[in-house]
Amino acid sequence: MAYDLKDEVVVIAGGAGLIGKALSKAFAEEGAKVVIASKEGKGFAQEIGAGFHELDISDESSVDRLIKDMDKGHGKIDVFINCAWPKTDDWMTNVEEVKFKSILKNLEMHLGGYWLCCQRFALYMKKQGHGRIINFSSTQGVVAPNFSVYEGTKMTSPPAYPLIKGGIIMMTKYFATYFAKHNVRVNSVSPGGVYNDQDPDFVKRYSKLTPLGRMAKAEEIVSPVLMLASKKSSYMTGENIMVDGGWTTW
Ligand SMILES: NC(=O)c1ccc[n+]([C@@H]2O[C@H](COP(=O)([O-])OP(=O)(O)OC[C@H]3O[C@@H](n4cnc5c(N)ncnc54)[C@H](O)[C@@H]3O)[C@@H](O)[C@H]2O)c1
Repeated sequence: MAYDLKDEVVVIAGGAGLIGKALSKAFAEEGAKVVIASKEGKGFAQEIGAGFHELDISDESSVDRLIKDMDKGHGKIDVFINCAWPKTDDWMTNVEEVKFKSILKNLEMHLGGYWLCCQRFALYMKKQGHGRIINFSSTQGVVAPNFSVYEGTKMTSPPAYPLIKGGIIMMTKYFATYFAKHNVRVNSVSPGGVYNDQDPDFVKRYSKLTPLGRMAKAEEIVSPVLMLASKKSSYMTGENIMVDGGWTTW
């Protein structure tokens, strides 16, 4: 197996979502012991022979329970991937109308949840003497949204999203440098837009602005994550890998 992940214990938060499903399948195919940790996805986990554990990434007792149960059941956690996407019901409200309370709630659930998981998993990995954490950011954590792609659709760039995703990249770098001496590597991956049956006008405009001329397929986000999870990327930490068809290149 190219990535040397056989029997590695890999916890994937949000592992039954659009990108999460592709990740969970790929890690299982590599022979890793995958545990999907999420609000839903038990059926999918069974389908691919993975484990399932309930998780709310922004709830301290839920995160601590997961780590405790993983330790009891597997005796180690080699890799933690955070691919969860918590959001409020008014997520797509534009910047002129969004309530301040909603911005704060999304920061708490999403940026706060990623931070909490990073802290707890890094501490566990420090104790066991090794580990890799991979966080999901986005092109919108690196460059500003191009609002022209949303014109004439009900879509927008949710106003809390760049704060959250930019924060996740810097948080990743912070944890990477702090925990480096404990053999815990922390990196992030930043996908561009993944095709999910969005408004055709949006898809057309988005594709035109992307050097590769199209949106991503979920499976195309997987290989950089396998690489970062692998012991073979042992000299990488604090990195943010763009998987965006070239969106941030020009
Ligand atoms: N889809 C894209 O186009 C895209 C682009 C760039 C970045 N991303 C990022 O990739 C990640 C995954 O995106 P996706 O499209 O697969 O999302 P998704 O909505 O399809 O899946 C997210 C999963 O997270 C789970 N979840 C929600 N709240 C949770 C919580 N509090 N605790 C635990 N699990 C929770 C959901 O149940 C779901 O299974 C997100 O961080 C997202 O911001 C996605």
